[in-house]
Amino acid sequence: MKPQPLKLAAIGCGSRTFIYFELAAKQPELYAIVAAADHNAARRTKARELSRNPDFREFVDDAALLAEPKLADVMIIATQDAFHFAHASAALRKGYDLLLEKPISTSLADVLALDRLATGLGRRVLVCHVLRYTPFYRRVKEIVAGGRLGELVSFEATEGVEAWHQGHSFVRGHWAVAEKATPMIIAKSCHDTDILSWLVDSPCISLNSFGGIMHFRPERAPPGAPARCTDGCPVGDTCLYNALRYLGDRRNWLGLIYDRAGTASDAEIVDWLKVSPWGRCVYRCDNTAVDHQTVNMTFASGATGTFTMTAFSEGRDLAIFGTKARLLAGERVKRLAGCDIVIEDHTTHALERITIDFDQDGGHGGGDAGLVRMLYSEMSKPQAADMESSLQKSVESHLIGFAAEESRVTGRTVHLAEIRAR
Ligand SMILES: NC(=O)c1ccc[n+]([C@@H]2O[C@H](COP(=O)([O-])OP(=O)(O)OC[C@H]3O[C@@H](n4cnc5c(N)ncnc54)[C@H](O)[C@@H]3O)[C@@H](O)[C@H]2O)c1
Repeated sequence: MKPQPLKLAAIGCGSRTFIYFELAAKQPELYAIVAAADHNAARRTKARELSRNPDFREFVDDAALLAEPKLADVMIIATQDAFHFAHASAALRKGYDLLLEKPISTSLADVLALDRLATGLGRRVLVCHVLRYTPFYRRVKEIVAGGRLGELVSFEATEGVEAWHQGHSFVRGHWAVAEKATPMIIAKSCHDTDILSWLVDSPCISLNSFGGIMHFRPERAPPGAPARCTDGCPVGDTCLYNALRYLGDRRNWLGLIYDRAGTASDAEIVDWLKVSPWGRCVYRCDNTAVDHQTVNMTFASGATGTFTMTAFSEGRDLAIFGTKARLLAGERVKRLAGCDIVIEDHTTHALERITIDFDQDGGHGGGDAGLVRMLYSEMSKPQAADMESSLQKSVESHLIGFAAEESRVTGRTVHLAEIRAR
């Protein structure tokens, strides 16, 4: 018998829901998009168009949607970080399984409470750790788990956020004030702590972390730079962060934050930049999100590893040192060696070069497309906890992130057993 498509609904119609809807609508044999809620009418209209469903229903907010009898199998929770806990808890109570955007929540207590709630109600929660669904990381996992490198002893990992992206999202944007969203190590790097603990496949025992805001501070502002780029900045022509780039080579970024980006005139956009957070000088914002951070970790297996997040590199880099071979992978390898992964055997010094093809749809190196493709089968697995990025598995990566932030702020080494006990 032909399987019934999984019915999808969403709370929050921003860039993430649009990506998931667009990908799901291309697979009508697997998914039917039935409803969405957002305060913003233009976004609801876009969600309706993407759904390709004449019976699609729209709601002005989470409460209106959840007041209806259960409309779908899976609710996508893609509001901003601070709302995840409330919206996810309410949808779980209403009977929905969830596709929950990361971070799970903004505090560890809420992460654990949501895990308890979902387990108690017997519901499934798949966290959008999209990197687990990329062909690149799946191949790295296969190499590590298959023993090709021998025993995993150490790793070095870097996430280069990239300077413009840091300015857009973590200086001017939604995640700039960590207290209103989540600390950088959770907001941006929970993907990395998730992938690293998945690859090591052993619980993290203790860690320490350092970092801060080195560049995006008032004292680093060029002389004479005004509060807004629209106020006639003397270095506007050469400044990497000039907000007027939203009218030119950075127009694609505008679409993420300004609904009329596709149709607005330049004059309208300039008027908007005069009042919007994205028009502010990056050296004169209220940002508290760090622009660089390191985490130094030890695992129950005995392995150790370091992770660096920096605004001033681009893409992810990974080195894994095993007892039989070392693996180098990611952006630098791509640029220098023209492939995605290089494995060097310790005995023969032979180099194996691996290139990976992936589906460009969505983003995240094929992770968005991979997640949506696998959502159906993940939701059909016998045990909720066995899903690739289940809530139960994702708790571990969030634990590492919250512990790292505690270490960065207090200057102490944090033993995860203390946090688990708390
Ligand atoms: N998995 C990933 O790799 C990845 C990447 C980027 C962002 N994210 C996460 O995805 C989430 C969403 O990000 P985004 O960029 O799509 O956000 P966004 O700000 O573009 O969209 C959020 C939407 O939620 C709506 N909303 C707010 N309150 C609501 C309510 N009560 N009921 C219904 N709708 C409501 C807003 O109007 C807005 O349209 C964030 O938590 C973010 O951290 C994940």
